[in-house]
Amino acid sequence: MTHVDPGRRAVLRWFGGLATVSALAGTGVWLGGSRPGLPYATAMASGREDGAFDVDLRLRAHADEVPIFSGPASEVWRYTAERIAGPADTLTALGESYPGPLIRLRRGQRLRVELRNELPEDTTVHWHGLHVPSEVDGQPRLPIAPGARQEIAFDVRDRAGLYWYHPHPHGPRGGRVGFQAYAGLAGPLMITDEQEQALELPAGEQEFVLLLQDRSFTRDNQLQYIGDGMGSMMTRMRGFRGNRMLVNGRPDARRDVATQPYRLRILNGSNARIYKLAWSDGRPVTVIGTDGGLLAAPEQRAFVTLAPAQRTDLWVDFGGAKPGDSVRLVSEAYEMSGMGGGMMGGGMMGSQRESLVTFRITSPETDPRGLPERLAEDLPAPSIRPDTPVRRFTLGMRMMRGFTINGRQMNGTNVADDEIVTLGDTEIWEFVNDTMMPHPMHVHGLQFHVHERIAEGSRTELHDGLIDAGLHDTVLVFPGERVRLAMTFEHFTGLYMYHCHNMEHEDAGMMRYFRVDPSRISA
Ligand code: C2O
Ligand code: CU
Ligand code: CU
Repeated sequence: MTHVDPGRRAVLRWFGGLATVSALAGTGVWLGGSRPGLPYATAMASGREDGAFDVDLRLRAHADEVPIFSGPASEVWRYTAERIAGPADTLTALGESYPGPLIRLRRGQRLRVELRNELPEDTTVHWHGLHVPSEVDGQPRLPIAPGARQEIAFDVRDRAGLYWYHPHPHGPRGGRVGFQAYAGLAGPLMITDEQEQALELPAGEQEFVLLLQDRSFTRDNQLQYIGDGMGSMMTRMRGFRGNRMLVNGRPDARRDVATQPYRLRILNGSNARIYKLAWSDGRPVTVIGTDGGLLAAPEQRAFVTLAPAQRTDLWVDFGGAKPGDSVRLVSEAYEMSGMGGGMMGGGMMGSQRESLVTFRITSPETDPRGLPERLAEDLPAPSIRPDTPVRRFTLGMRMMRGFTINGRQMNGTNVADDEIVTLGDTEIWEFVNDTMMPHPMHVHGLQFHVHERIAEGSRTELHDGLIDAGLHDTVLVFPGERVRLAMTFEHFTGLYMYHCHNMEHEDAGMMRYFRVDPSRISA
């Protein structure tokens, strides 16, 4: 007999269970048909003339029950996918729990996805980090209603790297990204190309995709998110943090490895937690890639700071170990200093040490391949000149209302004068953090260079784990810091978004649209 206090049930249950979902699922509305050519035509215009798709997928967002712990199954929302056409390795399950499947793509492929919303509320699917037309970017302005389907298509133009997909709904009463992602809607998307494959980095059995998330559960294994009341207001200000670490949707993650090199493709899919990734045996962390793919050359750190939505690509050689040994990937304890005291101060923003994955060395193996000294040859240099315009965005806070960007919050598709850029231009975007919290700032539709960090506050210990080289779509901006990003608006005009990727901040309105206008000179 387990006693379950109904007041402490998972929030998931409050928004309708399985019965509601299946009742709605039959009412299919074909968005592609009801608004002729909207997402589809634009995508087609950006790519090849022939109508053939290299990869054709059906992606469902739906409620389910999955085993996470022993005992009762957990109610989740999740993506499941079906391959209609495309290479056999396009879809791989990421464990037996809720995460969406790993979608493997090759640069140059043309992708079609039919999305089916079997949830009891609006959703969208955003391709985080990908350079795609505005209409297929999964923005909240094009929601998929419960029971509806949406067809999207685009060409895979991005560099080889680890990206991801997740919902992006935001209605008049706020966002639902935090809730839907927390409920389980998120999955990794990997792009590869010939240049990457020529490097012969560890692959197959020697490559792991690790989705890091923190969750909290009731005693009967149900997910708990933010409730109502005073305590929850605090949680929303800070962002949700759970007390259980899940890797690919499972606690106590273990991987058996041999005495050879491995490649770890790590995605921080947490709502708000920042990880301080390190090895339990004190060996340095070798980083070979960031959000936007491989670095020009590997970098080493004592630990790597990974903010929500960011990815890191690690190379590790278990060659020095003997069978029977184990090495753990951990998130080290940290203090968030330089933030003043009180409710937002050190204690509440810091973190204790957490174990993420135990690598158990089971078999001796020799792999003579070392780590190449040079990695990517295709890493573009930022084309910054002394007259490159600087666009400044100040991150602030409005009492009781949440965080702001230049004093504004999300307001439909409203775009202010200082949120309009020109196709083909390169700009410096400067995020100035005037708050007491770090904010992982994300820009849609492109990868940027972290050009400069100007620390006006004190440097925190987490600064030592930053990898600013390479390409990024999400950058951590610490309190009192100014971070300058170099970015170019290429190929696509129209609406895109920029926002804090602390999902609770984003849902509370720390998010805006910006618009890419056609150049006035060219035709
Ligand atoms: Cu991963 Cu606008 O988000
Ligand atoms: Cu994004
Ligand atoms: Cu934020």
